[in-house]
Amino acid sequence: MNVWDAIQNRTSIRKYRPDPIEAEKREKIAEAFRRAPSARNQQTWKLLWVEDPALKAKIREVSPGHAPMLEEAPAVLVAVGLEQEESVMTNGHRPDTVNLSIAMSYAILEAFELGLGTCWMAYYKEEELRNALGLPENTSIVAISPIGYGAEEPSQRPRKPLEEVFEVL
Ligand SMILES: Cc1cc2nc3c(=O)[nH]c(=O)nc-3n(C[C@H](O)[C@H](O)[C@H](O)COP(=O)(O)O)c2cc1C
Repeated sequence: MNVWDAIQNRTSIRKYRPDPIEAEKREKIAEAFRRAPSARNQQTWKLLWVEDPALKAKIREVSPGHAPMLEEAPAVLVAVGLEQEESVMTNGHRPDTVNLSIAMSYAILEAFELGLGTCWMAYYKEEELRNALGLPENTSIVAISPIGYGAEEPSQRPRKPLEEVFEVL
């Protein structure tokens, strides 16, 4: 599978089999995250791979929808931004938000290549999740995602037509 295939075929997965994820696959996904670009190459980030059932239950608890996938999946990815030198970049955007979004996308695409499903989630209260995971105040949690072998094969969700989202000037 090449990058194009992964981009074309990935879909969010919301139902998971409990089968554990092989250690080699876990390492490859962590590597994909680590290799992502970041502003000034600061790499002020960390990827947590949460497989402890008690911690997964806590994550589910601080997600208002209490989605079962957060406990059903064998692990949950948590993309954490560490202390930043600057809180916004020249363009006004927060580097942790941008950096972590890129790194999570790398991890998610690599997971897909390895036959694993993910579902990017923003439906959690950051402070509650930080407390639940024992993370310091100066960290941000940009995204979370269950990860595991899918128990569903959803069809592709529609996208806006290309002419609406792309313009050559
Ligand atoms: C920033 C962001 C936040 C999201 N939050 C959630 C969420 O909290 N719960 C959920 O089930 N899906 C969530 N999603 C998944 C989107 O609903 C999904 O990516 C979108 O419907 C397109 O479907 P696809 O990923 O299958 O292509 C989120 C996606 C993004 C990018």
